[in-house]
Amino acid sequence: MSETLKITDLHVAVEGKPILRGVNLTINRGETHALMGPNGSGKSTLGNAIMGHPSYDVTGGTIEINGQDIMEWDASERARAGIFMAFQRPMSIPGVKMADFLRHAATNVRNPERKEGEDLIPMREFRKELKEKMSQLRMDVEFARRYVNDGFSGGEMKRAEILQMAMLRPKFAILDETDSGLDVDAVKLASQSIAEIGGAEMGILIITHHDKLLDYNAPDFTHVMLGGKIVETGGVELAQELYTQGYDRIRAAYPEEAALEEELAEETATA
Ligand SMILES: Nc1ncnc2c1ncn2[C@@H]1O[C@H](COP(=O)(O)OP(=O)(O)O)[C@@H](O)[C@H]1O
Ligand SMILES: [Mg+2]
Repeated sequence: MSETLKITDLHVAVEGKPILRGVNLTINRGETHALMGPNGSGKSTLGNAIMGHPSYDVTGGTIEINGQDIMEWDASERARAGIFMAFQRPMSIPGVKMADFLRHAATNVRNPERKEGEDLIPMREFRKELKEKMSQLRMDVEFARRYVNDGFSGGEMKRAEILQMAMLRPKFAILDETDSGLDVDAVKLASQSIAEIGGAEMGILIITHHDKLLDYNAPDFTHVMLGGKIVETGGVELAQELYTQGYDRIRAAYPEEAALEEELAEETATA
């Protein structure tokens, strides 16, 4: 049986405000899923809830890995179980070098029994692996000496995210596209790199606005979120339709969810 991340009737509230209203989604390892939808429809909220972010209150439904309910697990337990998320607005950590950050993260994910303060992956072993991965990804080793996301361009954030994936080798990866614009070459490089680090063996959920990313990394499934629900699921042709024609057809087909979307959009200018 293949490994599965299964979300059933998920309801999530933020600061008491309902955002997700019954999301169903099953991702098997080896599949790539694209999640699309207008701003504020709840895409990032879904990612954060899967990851176990404490600001996102699950008010109903379940999240399971291979049939095991993970709702009570905190974010680091979920990371150890093989779930990874790259954030839309990655935090910068001035003063912490990429290499040190990755060594801590990799130790945490690989040694679930390790207690705070106990040994990290031995330096020599870690360095060797990092060098191998960086050379495979054609990254300059200098990159690992920079502070995490500190002054990174959009393309560099993307590379940092892929290097993390390469070192952590998650089973399920949620990639929430960065706000920063990526040029076509950066997007192409990113999707090639995902393939090179074994993306085909992961279950990937890509939240994206870039049609090029999907060109190089064609999704097996495309889901459309509107007003906190997945209203439609299709193949790669659905992604293509949304890029070229926008969400008018979707809004007309699902007036109830479209009304909820407007309500949320009025309350917040951001998202
Ligand atoms: N941390 C948060 N604090 C307050 N409101 C939030 C937070 N995260 C999401 N929301 C709200 O939830 C709604 C959905 O946001 P989000 O999931 O970011 O949408 P999307 O990623 O589809 O653009 C928006 O109204 C947004 O303001
Ligand atoms: Mg978002």
